[in-house]
Order: sequence, then structure tokens, then C-alpha cells
Amino acid sequence: MSKRERVFVTRQIPSPGIELLRSHFEVDIWPDPLPPSREQLQSRAQGVFGLLTLLSDPVDAALMDAAGPSLRGIANYAVGYNNIDVQEANRRSIAVGNTPDALTDATADIAVGLVLAAARHFQESILQVRALEWKTWEPMGLLGLDLKGKTLGILGMGRIGAAVARTMVGGWKMKLLYTSRTDKPQIDSELGGRRVPLEELLSTSDVISIHTDLNPGTKHLIDRDTLSIMKSNAILVNTARGGVIDQEALYDALRAKTIFAAGLDVTDPEPLPNDSRLRELPNCTILPHIGSATFVARNTMSIMAANNLIATLHGQPMPHGVPMPKQS
Ligand code: NAP
Ligand code: GLV
Ligand code: GLV
Repeated sequence: MSKRERVFVTRQIPSPGIELLRSHFEVDIWPDPLPPSREQLQSRAQGVFGLLTLLSDPVDAALMDAAGPSLRGIANYAVGYNNIDVQEANRRSIAVGNTPDALTDATADIAVGLVLAAARHFQESILQVRALEWKTWEPMGLLGLDLKGKTLGILGMGRIGAAVARTMVGGWKMKLLYTSRTDKPQIDSELGGRRVPLEELLSTSDVISIHTDLNPGTKHLIDRDTLSIMKSNAILVNTARGGVIDQEALYDALRAKTIFAAGLDVTDPEPLPNDSRLRELPNCTILPHIGSATFVARNTMSIMAANNLIATLHGQPMPHGVPMPKQS
């Protein structure tokens, strides 16, 4: 039998994907729950055909150099691929893939959950019960915001943004505004949505939910200036990437209550540093990046990532290849 190509998987992932990989490759898996360091990653990547990476692994020219010319495919176990230098991979004709759609509903559910948590004080309420401070039914305590008929602003009307809009427009009869780089006539006719300039969305939405990828145009899109035009009762939810928000500016806005509350499934950096003051705010609910964390989504993602590398082995395009970056 001819020698099998090797793949390095940077963390334990669900077995369906690993079994698929094992039927085609020699599979090396990073065994620890914490990520390999840059040096460990580079050392394990030497001579591999493929890398199956996580969003916490920086995949840059140095790693591609360390892997050497055998490296033909990089399959990210995520839909977001801002951790990968796709331009550099392209230059070396290394295929890059991701896992779209499989996690859309799971992530949209977390966004909707964070909207409810932020609007209705879940965080303070849970802390109160745990601290044995629930003394009575309070006529005027923990009052929150209603959602029915309010205005929803989706930043980035892609797959996940559309799923959130369907749930919230369908369930809460919210009016829908959104931003994106291109028109979405399907959303306009299906959900009565309207694509508007960022400033209009921010100044008129009651709930703002972020669903753009992290790219040079979305880095710190939410900063002091953009926060300052939001309504004082606005809810801001981010399940996209932490880097879309300037966290210092968000901290100040939440503390001064110039917006009502925030819900974050993503931060910058991750994990949130121990001394981050965001953690102390009663009006900020933070989850440890669990958007895609359902059994079904993660199993499906593992299969998609494996199939991306198997296609490359067969000289075919990845079934879920990422789009070519625009040359700047
Ligand atoms: P997607 O379908 O590619 O959606 C991204 C959307 O962002 C697109 O509609 C795009 O507009 C829009 N966009 C990009 N740059 C923009 C800008 N400057 N201004 C306005 N809109 C902009 O991706 P998806 O599958 O919905 O995933 C979105 C992101 O969610 C991922 O990239 C990832 O970072 C994050 N994510 C997080 C979790 C989690 O666990 N929390 C799970 C999955 C995904 P066009 O359509 O016009 O190009
Ligand atoms: C998760 O954050 C993803 O991009 O899939
Ligand atoms: C609240 O629990 C009510 O019954 O109004």
C-alpha cells in the first residue's frame, strides 16, 4: 500500500469527521483541551497534506512555511475564517474551506437568546437567585423591555443574520432594517426588510444584532461614535466576532447606560481576560463563544471539514471552499 498523506487536526472534534478522515489519511490529533502554541502548531504541521484548524489557530505564512510544500488544504472547523491568511494560501495554491450553513440555526438561536437575556435581565436575575437574594415578588424590580413590534437592526444580512431576522420578525412581529454590502431582495419581500445606511440602522433600531464577518471594513464598526447614536434603550448583541466592537467604548456605554444592555457570545480577545471590566457589568451578558455548540451542528461541521480535505486529496475543489479574497 502506498504511503498515506498526513493530516493534523488541532483539537479533538466529533468522531464522525475523524472517522471520515481516518478512512483517507494518517490522522494526527492535538490531544489537549487547550490549543497548541504557535511553536507546537508549526512543529506538528511539518510535512502534512492538510490542516484541520479551529478559529483560535492563527494560520499564517509562517505556519504554511513550517508545513512545507506538502500542504495542499486547510479546512477550518468554523464558518468564520478571519484566523486564516487566505490570500497567502491562495498565492501558494493551498485550498481553504469552512463550514457554512451547518451552524446557522444554532448560532441564530444564541443571538435570539442573548436578545431575551439582555432585554429581561437574565444575568441579574440568575445571580439574585443564586445569592439567596430573592426575597419577594417585586412590583417594580428587574423591569425590562418588550420586543413585540419594535425595530430589529441586523448588521450583516448573511446566512445567520437572515435566520435571526426570520425568528424575530416571525415571532415578535418586529420591523426589520439591515446592512450588507449587496442588496437582499429576497429578504425585503419575505420579511419586509429594508437595507439602510449604518447610521440610520443604529439610530432607529431597538435591537441591534451583529452578523458580519470580521474583515477590514467591520473591525471596530461599533466604536464610541457609532455607540453614541444608538437609542438609550437599545440592546446590542454580538455573535459574530469580538473585533467588530471596540470593547472599551462598549464598557463605557453600558456603564453610563447610554444603551440598555448587551449580549456577547464573542469577545476580543478570547477568552475574555480575567481583568476585563465587562464581566462586572450587570447589563452585559457574556457567553463563552457557544454559537455553534449543538450536537448536530458540531457533528455536521466535523464531516464538512473532513470532506473539504478529502476533496483536495482527490484533486477536486473543496465542496465548501471559501471565496477568493478581493485583491487590494
Ligand atoms: P455570511 O453569510 O457570509 O454573512 C456575513 C454578512 O456580513 C454578509 O451578508 C455580508 O454582506 C455582511 N458584511 C460583510 N462586511 C460588511 C460590511 N462592511 N457592512 C455590512 N455588511 C457586511 O456569514 P454567516 O454564515 O452568516 O456568518 C457570519 C459570521 O458569524 C461569521 O463570519 C463568523 O465570524 C460568525 N459566527 C459566529 C459563531 C459563534 O459561535 N458565535 C458561529 C458561526 C458564525 P454581503 O452578503 O453583501 O456580502
Ligand atoms: C464560529 O464562530 C464560526 O465562525 O463558525
Ligand atoms: C405573575 O406571575 C402574574 O401572575 O402576574
